[in-house]
Amino acid sequence: MWVRVVKAEDTDVAVALLSESFAESMMLPGAYVTVLGFLVKQYLIERRALMPHTATLIGFYKEHEGEDLELAGTVEVTFDRRGANDSTPSPTTPKDSPYICNMAVKKPLRRRGIGWHLLKASEELISKMSSSREVYLHCRMIDEAPFNMYTKAGYNVVKTDSILILLTLQRRKHLMRKELQVLDCPLDFSESNEQLPS
Ligand SMILES: CC(C)(COP(=O)(O)OP(=O)(O)OC[C@H]1O[C@@H](n2cnc3c(N)ncnc32)[C@H](O)[C@@H]1OP(=O)(O)O)[C@@H](O)C(=O)NCCC(=O)NCCS
Repeated sequence: MWVRVVKAEDTDVAVALLSESFAESMMLPGAYVTVLGFLVKQYLIERRALMPHTATLIGFYKEHEGEDLELAGTVEVTFDRRGANDSTPSPTTPKDSPYICNMAVKKPLRRRGIGWHLLKASEELISKMSSSREVYLHCRMIDEAPFNMYTKAGYNVVKTDSILILLTLQRRKHLMRKELQVLDCPLDFSESNEQLPS
């Protein structure tokens, strides 16, 4: 497993992965993936312009030695207020705190620890890029897989959408938070060395 910051040339593969994941979570037919792709691409370009206040990571994975690495997953990390997304969902997050969102692992590659490594890479990068130790993320109440992962990683629910959110045709979400430990040996994650060991 190998994790690094997304580069301009990775945009199309990251767009494909995220569009498929959004279509899956919204239960949209496959035909919508292309339409979603246009919106996701625009979004990723806008987020790239906000680096280093935010970063999108991509993870590559190979099952066996000798195989080629394949793109396996992605996650977005925001470090501070300047990188904060204008339209974060409810329950509201503190804008100055680091925030993790848009994690997706390719469907055939799930349950191999890839999501876990992306989460750990996000936390390590936050420890390096932000002085704040409180990390927030959202998780829909119906999404058992990420909820289990975040709970196992030490995130706790701090707030949950009221049932009235259903009137706006949205799923209810938890806002979850974790207090990060101070790293003994912070990673070097500069532009010249974007690789994260795992
Ligand atoms: C959530 C997601 C990123 C997890 O990625 P993954 O690579 O499959 O997860 P991992 O293999 O690293 O699993 C880590 C832990 O998460 C939990 N978990 C993962 N998949 C699970 C599942 N299907 N059911 C229950 N728990 C699950 C387990 O606690 C697991 O630890 P374990 O294997 O020791 O039991 C992946 O399922 C995904 O892309 N889902 C669709 C998009 C999504 O929901 N994103 C999160 C938005 S909040």
